[in-house]
Amino acid sequence: MNDKLISNQYKQKAYNLANFDLKGSQSISWESPSNIALIKYWGKYGDQLPQNPSLSFNLKNSKTITNIIYQKKGDDESSIQYFFEDERNKPFEKRIKNYFEKIAVYLPFLKKLDFTIYSKNTFPHSAGIASSASSFSALAHGLCSIEQELFHTLSGHDKFYRKASFLARLGSGSASRSVPGKAVLWGINEGITESSDEYAVPIDEQVHHLFKTYRDAVLIVDSEQKTSSSSIGHTLMENHPFAKARYLQANVNLEKLLLALKSGGVKLFMEIVENEALTLHALMLSSNPSLSLIKPNTLAVIEKLMEFRQKQRLNFAFTLDAGPNVHVLYPEKIKAKMIDFIENELLQFCENGKWIDDEISNGPKQILS
Ligand code: DP6
Repeated sequence: MNDKLISNQYKQKAYNLANFDLKGSQSISWESPSNIALIKYWGKYGDQLPQNPSLSFNLKNSKTITNIIYQKKGDDESSIQYFFEDERNKPFEKRIKNYFEKIAVYLPFLKKLDFTIYSKNTFPHSAGIASSASSFSALAHGLCSIEQELFHTLSGHDKFYRKASFLARLGSGSASRSVPGKAVLWGINEGITESSDEYAVPIDEQVHHLFKTYRDAVLIVDSEQKTSSSSIGHTLMENHPFAKARYLQANVNLEKLLLALKSGGVKLFMEIVENEALTLHALMLSSNPSLSLIKPNTLAVIEKLMEFRQKQRLNFAFTLDAGPNVHVLYPEKIKAKMIDFIENELLQFCENGKWIDDEISNGPKQILS
């Protein structure tokens, strides 16, 4: 067994996390934002390990709020009831049950508790925003709080958030990056000593203040959520003819982006962020079978943005996640100009004129009652 792997360390220490006293029911709440990847995670192996490192900004307004009520279980099998926006949600409940089964090897106390989980999103259900990152992150942080309450084994910032990120990753890879920090890196990079494929780390100290007030305008081109698209997409990378070159490119792009983030190099930032977004969708389109998630209006928005940038000489970058919606990342100081342009020129391409005015945040927070 490789003792350097944090998964093995957690497994070895798990026997400490089985027996506890708990009277009545307890409640814990966390809110966690979605994140937008600048260097994309696309391709995985083993147990949710990334083929290349990825880097993201945490968002602020697009978040999940999760309340977990727990008590010692009765004699039967432990139960989980999951409510999304106050309604019992059986499909997600099943996903959570499987997830709890999977992570019980690290958190054996899960098998001795009954759970009622209430979750809601601050972004509209039909916003086309993938919620698995914020959901699994909020849940994983909640589970770490329960571990800390019952066993006091996660005292200390890094200890707590590393485990939260590790557990979130096992639910959804990108969820590992919704941990405290404005900019977060998941995956090994030689220059960042603490970096790991098993969990994500904040890299705010490596980021110029210029980027710390960036905003994200999310233009909702199409709100239909394709929840399975990223898992399918990751699988398509397994036999992709460009896979090897892509993983190499992601590492090179990460080095350049780290340089840009550190020095305040806005032009390089724009170049890399847009290259990553277009590469992601080029990989999808050139997969076998091909996966097409962009819509004609995605390209129309991108074209308009490019024209506007050329005319106005403004510094902003667009990016895309696994869907048709366009994220525009721009500095706070050009907010008025960007909003004016979005409202006058871009809403015609958005579904029912929808867009989300978001910004970078410090990530998840416990909600103390
Ligand atoms: C395109 O994290 O949703 O948004 O690990 O299978 O849950 P799973 O995939 P997921 O993939 C996200 C892909 C992406 C890029 C990114 O966020 O880095």
